[in-house]
Amino acid sequence: MKISVIGTGYVGLVTGTCLAETGNEVICVDIDKTKVDKMRNGEVPIYEPHLDVLFERNIKANRLKFTTSLAEGLAHGEIIFLALPTPEDEDGSADLSYVLSVSEEIGKKISNYKVIVDKSTVPVGTADKVRAIIAENAKCEFDVVSNPEFLREGFAVDDFMKPERIVVGSSSERATTLMKKLYSPFVRSGNPIIVMDEKSAELTKYASNSFLATKITFMNEIANYCERVGADVDMVRAGMGTDSRIGRRFLFPGIGYGGSCFPKDVKALKKAGKDADYDFKILKSVIEINSAQKTILLPKIDAYFNDDLKGKTIAVWGLAFKPETDDIREAPSIAIMDALLEKGAILQVFDPEAMPNISKRFGDKLTYSESMYSALEEADALLICTEWSIFRTPDYNKLKELLRNPVIFDGRNLYNINDMETEGFTYISIGRKA
Ligand code: UGA
Repeated sequence: MKISVIGTGYVGLVTGTCLAETGNEVICVDIDKTKVDKMRNGEVPIYEPHLDVLFERNIKANRLKFTTSLAEGLAHGEIIFLALPTPEDEDGSADLSYVLSVSEEIGKKISNYKVIVDKSTVPVGTADKVRAIIAENAKCEFDVVSNPEFLREGFAVDDFMKPERIVVGSSSERATTLMKKLYSPFVRSGNPIIVMDEKSAELTKYASNSFLATKITFMNEIANYCERVGADVDMVRAGMGTDSRIGRRFLFPGIGYGGSCFPKDVKALKKAGKDADYDFKILKSVIEINSAQKTILLPKIDAYFNDDLKGKTIAVWGLAFKPETDDIREAPSIAIMDALLEKGAILQVFDPEAMPNISKRFGDKLTYSESMYSALEEADALLICTEWSIFRTPDYNKLKELLRNPVIFDGRNLYNINDMETEGFTYISIGRKA
């Protein structure tokens, strides 16, 4: 099939590349000429495992092309994906200006039947708005479909190629048939394509992300409570997670969720509720608790250093909001590092991928280390903010040699408490006995 993808951010790029992989002819459109030139030369503009292989293969096979011309993109695809940014407005709602202005252009430019697919995370009612704007100018038939994506950064290719479900919000038989045809190679395993109305599809995305953020936040509260009563959150998690109604995943406590999706979507759903005269009390709490959770280790660090962090050197491992990404948006590391710097601490940081992004945010306020071990040199303590695999089994002797004090503040509960005690560390983590 002929597919166009408007916007080559994270979602657009993964969507375009993975759709090319199953034999479709894909054109990706972006207004950024430098980026388009780079992509034409095979350069993947984001860090995402496995994407480079698919990217190269499909460009070579001539199935994946890039252009800055919206007209060219719109003429090419029978299905046109909108994968445009919907940044957070000042009041927490999603800013639809990109989606709506491209919709206007679509109305003016299309001359034969097209299915316009909202892939961006957009508030309930956006498909109706997009449809109305296109209809103002369109001289041909078209349909608007909502098809939210559920990709996780770091696993996006896998999530796209083997989705647990595909949600299609469509009120047109013709569009639904095309969408099912497009996605059929991805659901051979029998996973469902769930067809529903557009509004329900739009809400499914917000509800899913907000639920997962709530699940994590609930466990963070349980962890905080565990510390007060001497229970162990690892045990509680194991006990809860084996109940299939609860499930094992997304029960890991830590220093809060971050990223470009959960924080934005929880706020947007809360604001959308308010606009519809509905008060999402649970989401208000989630936002507040998560914000506090990011600095939950601070009082413990303070207490360890007798409330005097001035001039103390702290090594920080992990800066990205989660492993396998260079993304630092809303990363808990930022909140806690800001607070530590405020108190006069010196921070020696290391992350396998996110150093360039973090240095843009902090400049010369941090010392950037070449390796996880060099960050420890002459440091008074180690703080862990992201659970990258390489941090999971460090050389404990090297740690003790390099650190001035064998003390670790672990915001991701990477190590076994008993092992750490045997190794002679002071080990402070989340929701477990100190
Ligand atoms: C999330 C969703 O998982 C995707 O399904 C969705 O498509 C995507 O948002 C989106 O809306 O585009 P992502 O933000 O890439 O994906 O990251 P997740 O792997 O979901 O992690 C989100 C945050 O939750 C991270 O900060 C992670 O550290 C935290 N987390 C996750 C926990 O603190 N505990 C857990 O048990 C799981």
